[in-house]
Order: sequence, then structure tokens, then C-alpha cells
Amino acid sequence: MSHDSQAAQPSQRSRIVVGNWKMYKTIEEACTFIETVSPLIAKSQVTVYLAVPFTAIYPAVKKVRELHAPLVIGAQNMNDATEGAFTGEIAARMLQEAGASFVILGHSERRQLFHETDAWINKKVKRALTQGIQPLLCVGETGQEREEKLTESVLKKQILASLKGVKAEEIERLILAYEPVWAIGTGISATVADAQAAHSFCREVVREKWGVKCADSLRILYGGSVKSENASSLIREKDIDGLLVGGAALSPDSFSEIINSIP
Ligand code: PGA
Repeated sequence: MSHDSQAAQPSQRSRIVVGNWKMYKTIEEACTFIETVSPLIAKSQVTVYLAVPFTAIYPAVKKVRELHAPLVIGAQNMNDATEGAFTGEIAARMLQEAGASFVILGHSERRQLFHETDAWINKKVKRALTQGIQPLLCVGETGQEREEKLTESVLKKQILASLKGVKAEEIERLILAYEPVWAIGTGISATVADAQAAHSFCREVVREKWGVKCADSLRILYGGSVKSENASSLIREKDIDGLLVGGAALSPDSFSEIINSIP
């Protein structure tokens, strides 16, 4: 095999951009966004996911079907139990019934503000897989951990603990996102080189544990202050297969600019 054909291999992973709306947008705002953004992204080859608030899942799914919009709707969190006395929580089967195709798990805001541990996130990942909802697992180091040169050990621990007991064929069904905590909502994105290095390391961790086939097919997204200005340089990197976008996913213009900047 020539060097050139080897270099062409990684692009086989299809690209994906995920908008994470966090606790923004009512049902009406969500539906208006979908109507506005759909024609703007109609020509894109990229798969576009939207993680919307719980109340907006069902109406957003209905709107997407009605418009044949190029969007996949999902949730931002869930509980690991099938059902039970857990006031304020939501179960995987409820999300599935509402039409959610995927769920973000282990976002740093959940880890930091709601004290989610790797062990709990692991149970959620398994529940989502059992229920047929695609897990989008987030990992990432804090600013202090980066300063202390702990980035790799933190990523390795989070990946192995959050995915403990998950089988190779299940790894192929999930998506991983590297989101350095210090880059989220701060306007300070990781450099392209630092992001690529972290992605390559995450892929290596998966390769060591689950083998080369899983590692090669796994999509790893970058998240943390993604904008249209940095989206295309990030996505050009060999191990960056997509983007997880927070703030810039709230406006149809900035979100579609990011999507359309990806070749
Ligand atoms: P940001 O958020 O794009 O606003 O930095 C990303 C995220 O939290 O997923």
C-alpha cells in the first residue's frame, strides 16, 4: 500500500456536528430554530445532531419529520434506572418514546455541577446501549489538570471507567467527545495541535482496550468554544471526526456557518 493511500484511510469515518443547547430554548424556540436552520444546511454532507431540552424532544422530532430536516434529535442526560422513585429524573425508555436517537452522557457540567462520577456515567452508558439510544460520552481535563500535565491520565481514567464492561461491538455504536473543561464556554478553544494530540491519545486508549477495529471506526468529536473561525482547521486533523458545539449552536446562522465550513 502506498503512503498516499494510507493517509486517505481515516476520512472513512463520517463527520458529525452536534449542537448542545444546554438549558436554552422553549418548544416554540426549538421549532423555529429547526425551520430556519434546515434550508441553511440542506447541502451539507455532515450528519447534524441536536441535543435539546427534554421538553423539546418530542416536538423537535415531529418538526424534523414534517420538514424532512437533516437533523437527528437527542437528549443531554438521563438516569441509569429503568424507572423508579427518582424525583426529577428521566429514564432511557422515556427518551426513546419521545424520539431521542442519542444522549449526551458525562458532560463536564453534569460532572462538576451535579457531581456525576465515572461509575454512574458507566451505568448510564450501559442503559442507553440496552435501550437502543446512542451514547455520546464526554471526557476532558480541567485547566488545573492540564497545568499539572495530567491530561492523558485523566482522559484514560475517564474513558476506561465510563466504558467499563462495554463490549467491542457496543463501542462501535457510541460516539466519544473530547471537551477540555477550560475551553467550554470560555471563548478559548484548544489549539488544533493540542486537540489532535488529545484525540489521538483517546483513540490509542480505545485501541489498547478494545482493539484496532473499534479504535479506527470510533468517531471522536472536539468540543469547547467551537466557532466557524476554528471549525474547519479542527476538522482537518486526522483524529478529529466532528464537533460538539454549545454557544454557537444557539443561533441558526452561527450553527449553519460551522456546518457549512466543513468540506
Ligand atoms: P461551548 O460549549 O461551545 O459553548 O464552549 C461546548 C459544550 O459544552 O459542549
